[in-house]
Amino acid sequence: MAAIEVNSLSKTYKVHKKEEGLRGSVKALFKREYNDVEAVKGVDFNIGQGELVGFIGPNGAGKTTTLKMLSGLLVPTSGTAKVLGYTPHERDEEYLKQISLVMGQKNQLFWDLPAIETFSLNKDIYEVDEKSYREVLNNLTEMLDVGDILHQQVRKLSLGQRMKCELIASLVHTPKILFLDEPTIGLDVVVQKNLRKFIKDYNQKYNATIILTSHYMDDVKELCERVIIIDEGKLGYDGRLDELVRSYAQNKIITFVFDKEVDKADLTQYGKVTDFQQLKATIEVPRDQIKDVASRMLQELPVDDLDIAEIPIEEIIRQVFNHE
Ligand SMILES: Nc1ncnc2c1ncn2[C@@H]1O[C@H](COP(=O)(O)OP(=O)(O)OP(=O)(O)O)[C@@H](O)[C@H]1O
Ligand SMILES: [Mg+2]
Repeated sequence: MAAIEVNSLSKTYKVHKKEEGLRGSVKALFKREYNDVEAVKGVDFNIGQGELVGFIGPNGAGKTTTLKMLSGLLVPTSGTAKVLGYTPHERDEEYLKQISLVMGQKNQLFWDLPAIETFSLNKDIYEVDEKSYREVLNNLTEMLDVGDILHQQVRKLSLGQRMKCELIASLVHTPKILFLDEPTIGLDVVVQKNLRKFIKDYNQKYNATIILTSHYMDDVKELCERVIIIDEGKLGYDGRLDELVRSYAQNKIITFVFDKEVDKADLTQYGKVTDFQQLKATIEVPRDQIKDVASRMLQELPVDDLDIAEIPIEEIIRQVFNHE
């Protein structure tokens, strides 16, 4: 059985419509009118126990709405979601004890107290016994390297330290299912890296099923073999990340640095010139011709240095949407 099963899941928000001015306000008192915002429009996917899946898409695509439905904060307008056999919005206590939703933009820690106080409160809420609590807390603080800050007032922590503590607070009950909504947002690259490693370790250590949303493609590249792409409430792709790259990115990118200035016109014979500066140029070349083209250019042009790279995933994702 899949850990997460989603069938034709949809969510339409009713947004209160208000006309401008006093007249509109008075009218609204008597007759409320609503606009429909179709945030999620019939989404299907299954996720197996222990999978770590990237859930990506542009702003407003419906990612957070989907995660909120899966964690039981929102009732779907239609369709069904089953997680570990439970219907999330019924908010069965046994269900809530096995999941966690972590939002990078929201915090649950008490601002004026040390983080450890929130952990301890969550321990009671989730009825975690003392022994497991100690054990988990030791594990998590070690994995995140935050032992020394748990007793400091949260307001005095750095953003990165706080996010690490937010994660621990959300994991005190060692959820089997983890919904991570932009957990690395706004953090510096070093902390982002730490958190990525932590997410991977948590996934492996506890065989946890994780859905991760992020606008940082490094998160997705490093953590997720599988990605689900959503745009305007509909799925655009569900499959392996490397397949996505292979099937959409027919080209690779070669960046050259030259010893001497070259003419842009001399470069077009090798491929599509996407960037050209005096001593530097970037060229897109079909994947299967890359070796030929690179060696020809090395022979025929004053090349000082070259670098071959994949098209950025951001670009590929844009292409996925444009193909629709
Ligand atoms: N509470 C709400 N009431 C009305 N509309 C909402 C509400 N929450 C979200 N929406 C709308 O639903 C759509 C999907 O929003 P959602 O937050 O799920 O997107 P997202 O993919 O998480 O975007 P982002 O990457 O910016 O976080 C958007 O058009 C948004 O404006
Ligand atoms: Mg969101």
